[in-house]
Amino acid sequence: MNKSVDSSAKLEVAKLDVAIVLAAGEGTRMKSQTPKVLHFIAGRTIIDHVLYQVSKLNPAQLRVVVGAGREAVEPHVKQIAPNSISVFQAERNGTGHAVQLALADLKASGTVLICAGDTPLLRSETLAEFIAAHNEAKNVVSVLTAEFPDPTGYGRILRNEAGEIVAIVEERDASEEIKLIDEINTGVYLFDIDALRASVAKLKSNNSQGELYLTDVIADIKAAGGKAAAVLSNDYSETLGINDRSQLADCAAIMRDRINYQHMLNGVEIVDPTTTWIDSNVTIEADATIFPESWLAGTTTVGAKAIIGPRTTLMNVKVAAGASVIESNCVDCEIGAGAKVGPYSYLRADTSLAAGAKVGAYVEIKNSSIGEGTKVPHLSYVGDAEIGSGTNIGAATVFVNYDGVEKHKTKVGNEVRIGSDTMLVAPVCIGDGAYTAAGSVITDDVPAGAMGVARSKQRNILGWVLRKRSGTKSAQAAKAAGATETSEQGS
Ligand code: UD1
Ligand code: MG
Repeated sequence: MNKSVDSSAKLEVAKLDVAIVLAAGEGTRMKSQTPKVLHFIAGRTIIDHVLYQVSKLNPAQLRVVVGAGREAVEPHVKQIAPNSISVFQAERNGTGHAVQLALADLKASGTVLICAGDTPLLRSETLAEFIAAHNEAKNVVSVLTAEFPDPTGYGRILRNEAGEIVAIVEERDASEEIKLIDEINTGVYLFDIDALRASVAKLKSNNSQGELYLTDVIADIKAAGGKAAAVLSNDYSETLGINDRSQLADCAAIMRDRINYQHMLNGVEIVDPTTTWIDSNVTIEADATIFPESWLAGTTTVGAKAIIGPRTTLMNVKVAAGASVIESNCVDCEIGAGAKVGPYSYLRADTSLAAGAKVGAYVEIKNSSIGEGTKVPHLSYVGDAEIGSGTNIGAATVFVNYDGVEKHKTKVGNEVRIGSDTMLVAPVCIGDGAYTAAGSVITDDVPAGAMGVARSKQRNILGWVLRKRSGTKSAQAAKAAGATETSEQGS
């Protein structure tokens, strides 16, 4: 069975009326021209991961607050979650302000989930448990918290003697004593929508950043007699946020481990999980083996008992069962059952290898189909070609597909033997069972069963070395072998 790591069992989740994802922040610490939430982890943007997990909760309405980099973020969000509503926050006046805007024309009541667009490791299972806990306790607000080994920079959770949450204090507004608290606000909340609406309307920006803090809502709801709870998550790594490139790499590594772990549980052999990077949409069947330093990207699929790597990149590649791809780079192509690729092969877009085909060292193939059992074993370029089955392409053959202006096609039939160092100057056809002589420059079609020879006849100029290079080591060797200065052809 085909198994991607995302094909998790159907999620049991309570009704969720609205989900709001906050993604308007500048992401200045990324120091990038790309908006923060559009950076990639495991083949998906950061916000794609978040929306993917949130969508699994089936919220009746999904709102995404966009601001910085809106021109790029908004269409991307629409593409991933076509039913979502984008809310534009022109000025970033804080998380409380972002939520005010998101609620502005929202008619719904019930429960709203709020989370940030920069926490790609959050899993829908964790969110579903959080919703269940919120509903069971009949809370007006629940805050998902975590104990961080280093809580620096996060809002700290203040609890009273009874262990109930009383407030969230931001790092910048915290006393030295509060800074010692290691339970932090993950930025994931559940609210009763009406209570939230009433409370965000009252927010004030009397804090060190002069912003409206969503976190101030907790104390306000409590003061109004609403039930608030902090729900401690048991895996802090899920709630790690991304603010700079180092955190991007940390999260990518955690995601890598998570993906690899799932594939291994599915029966895939990953020899070195620390150097194997598999994008989240890749599917791999049981008993495939992935050797170190390989990257399986995009929509790649790998069949049972296939062997990938070491040091192989597959981007949107279909690898059928039992094929092997070793030390190679393949993009947008198909590799048939039992086919062998590499080492050092480069398969470019729109290449397809039929079952049992072989592509060897220093071979580049582009936009070509290679028939069943056909071999291109050494040092060749194949471009814009259709090659039949059982054919052998001799070493250093080049499919000369480009005349400097346009590309042309080459057709090679079944059971053909192309001699080494043949130039097949397209457009040209080689018929079934035909041969070409080594070193030929083939510009005309070769009919079925014919031998195409296109090279000058060999001529030996006897004694040339002894006459023209006398005194050299070559001349000495020739003399020792019985060569003379005479230019006459011997018998
Ligand atoms: C926020 C929380 C903090 C928590 C931390 C978790 C507040 C005041 N603080 O702090 O308690 O520990 O998240 O990561 O909420 N955003 C907007 N519009 C804005 C400001 C922010 O959409 O005007 C978005 C950002 O894009 C981001 C999220 O809200 O996705 C959080 O904002 P950020 O500035 O990262 O808040 P933190 O300082 O990390
Ligand atoms: Mg943040």
